[in-house]
Amino acid sequence: MSDRIHTLSGYLHEYQKSATQPEEFWARIADSFYWRKRWDRVLKWNFDEPNVQWFVNGKLNITENIFERYLFTIGDRPAIIWEPSDPNEEGRTLTYKELYQEVCRFANALKSKGIGKGDKVIIYMPMVPEAAVAMLACARIGAIHSVVFAGFSSTALADRVNDCEAKAILTSDGNFRGSKKIAVKAIVDEALEKSSVETVIVYQRTKQDVTMKDGRDFWWHDVIASESAECVAEEMDSEDMLFILYTSGSTGKPKGVVHTTGGYMVYTKYSFENVFQYSSGDIYWCTADVGWITGHSYIVYGPLLAGATTLMFEGVPTYPDAGRFWAIVEKYKVNQFYTAPTAIRALQAYGTDVIQGYDLSSLKVLGSVGEPINEEAWHWYHTHIGQNRCPIVDTWWQTETGGIMVSPIAGITPTKPAYATLPLPGVQLCIVDPEGNELKGNSVEGNLCIKFPWPSMIRTTYGDHDRCKQTYFSTYKGMYFTGDGVKRDHDGYYRILGRVDDVINVSGHRMGTAEVENAINEHPKVIESAVVGYPHDVKGQGIYAYVICDMTNRTEDNLVNEIKEMVSKIIGPIAKPDKIQIVPGLPKTRSGKIMRRILRKVAENSLDNMGDTSTLLDPEVVTKIIEGRK
Ligand code: WTA
Repeated sequence: MSDRIHTLSGYLHEYQKSATQPEEFWARIADSFYWRKRWDRVLKWNFDEPNVQWFVNGKLNITENIFERYLFTIGDRPAIIWEPSDPNEEGRTLTYKELYQEVCRFANALKSKGIGKGDKVIIYMPMVPEAAVAMLACARIGAIHSVVFAGFSSTALADRVNDCEAKAILTSDGNFRGSKKIAVKAIVDEALEKSSVETVIVYQRTKQDVTMKDGRDFWWHDVIASESAECVAEEMDSEDMLFILYTSGSTGKPKGVVHTTGGYMVYTKYSFENVFQYSSGDIYWCTADVGWITGHSYIVYGPLLAGATTLMFEGVPTYPDAGRFWAIVEKYKVNQFYTAPTAIRALQAYGTDVIQGYDLSSLKVLGSVGEPINEEAWHWYHTHIGQNRCPIVDTWWQTETGGIMVSPIAGITPTKPAYATLPLPGVQLCIVDPEGNELKGNSVEGNLCIKFPWPSMIRTTYGDHDRCKQTYFSTYKGMYFTGDGVKRDHDGYYRILGRVDDVINVSGHRMGTAEVENAINEHPKVIESAVVGYPHDVKGQGIYAYVICDMTNRTEDNLVNEIKEMVSKIIGPIAKPDKIQIVPGLPKTRSGKIMRRILRKVAENSLDNMGDTSTLLDPEVVTKIIEGRK
């Protein structure tokens, strides 16, 4: 494989080439894909509008680069290995050929329901192979998928359905999560009460009772029953939308990040193969959910575009016990294992006894993603899981970047605990001070920006291009702003310090503080609220809510519980505040702005360094908040 990096000097060489001749560099990588028509021009860009186009006028279908590309060579190789939540249930393996047939059948079923190129399809499904089949079937016919994490509430689902004007929803009857059974279809029914979605296709997973609405709802097994296992792929333009994925930002409503076809395809495969050093025949396992970008790029698209075997796990790390991950590694002889720091910290808390007895010798590479990994967790992972033998790739990236941006190349880039190390070829990082001046040289700290386009970058926020411009391209002129703080040390290595905006990262899940506040404020007794993050041993960050309430007819305890329920109902259980403090007022400046800095200090319990409080309208409020802190 000509685009594979094998040595550190090879990496440096490729990086250099990608920076000095980006178009030649990416054209060479893209040439190894199958295009119905080659591009006229590699790149057209302007970060002011923003308008970024890669492989301009190229025509292709991403699924032809998975199926037509591999069927005749590795058609019998496992594409997806699926491990169910219950270890006593039989797993499933789909070879490339079988996956192809499932995708075609389902693509034909979608077509016969009137769904075609450009239509939006919401996927709200558990971690079953059919979730990947659903995504690829959409891509096959040019429909645009938007996967919604199945832990989101009906309100959150409805917001996304309406925002992207979805024509169909693909879902399941229920979902097994640990020892629980979740009524997925019932949540969909609730979400659809006020929507014009025409078609709902329900995959039968738990066999629990569901209501099926005549003419709208169909069983997955029925709609595919008479469909052919061949479906000619729709020809797409490089810049046609592949998917929309909603993510939280610092303002209220989640935004639909738009990714397009050609660039996303090229970048996810390239980054997958290089970062994980995947070799033919390896078993690769990423524990993310397909509802997040990690699941899109590194369970489904990246690995399958590379002809890899990707393992999909339906369950949770602690069911039936805290050794489950390691049991799966042993069972399938997993070679590359990619998870989130929050899972590592959670498992670390169970001690090393639960690892003993499992054979982890198949592991070659360990990965980390989603939030900063603290040194303690890094060392635990390295020693106890990697047995001091496996390199850790700490991969920094975002929903908006589409693929991994900063990461070691496994076994090639020397690692350093808690450092994402160096940018991948094609990624031109830039650290700026608050005024936007580039901080050159090493041993600097500031805000992380990217100054040149890369193929899998965000193109727009669905339905609101100005929001994309304001959020990412206006803070610092001519640059994409990531929202993260970063340090470049004396070796030129990058360490991500976490968000510098009002986004918090709870167990690797992005949450906008404004979004949580809006949900809290829906409670009729709530007058005002302010939400901040605070350091949490397992989750990385926890959610701390300060709430002003009308206490008539309520005790503090029942109000706190009601507010938690409210957030769970509006967003989902993942957004439930860890701590809620009922306060008499919030620290505000004379102009009415909440001073979050102070609230963060109280939540962090670092009270000796409160900074200047003289500009506050009522400094007394701070004393009261400190007295009542949780
Ligand atoms: C954070 C997940 C430190 C970061 C792929 C980023 C990380 C946000 C890392 C994006 C990492 C992700 N080290 N921080 N290795 N990976 N982040 O969109 O704050 O869910 O901006 O994408 O997660 O989260 P998202």
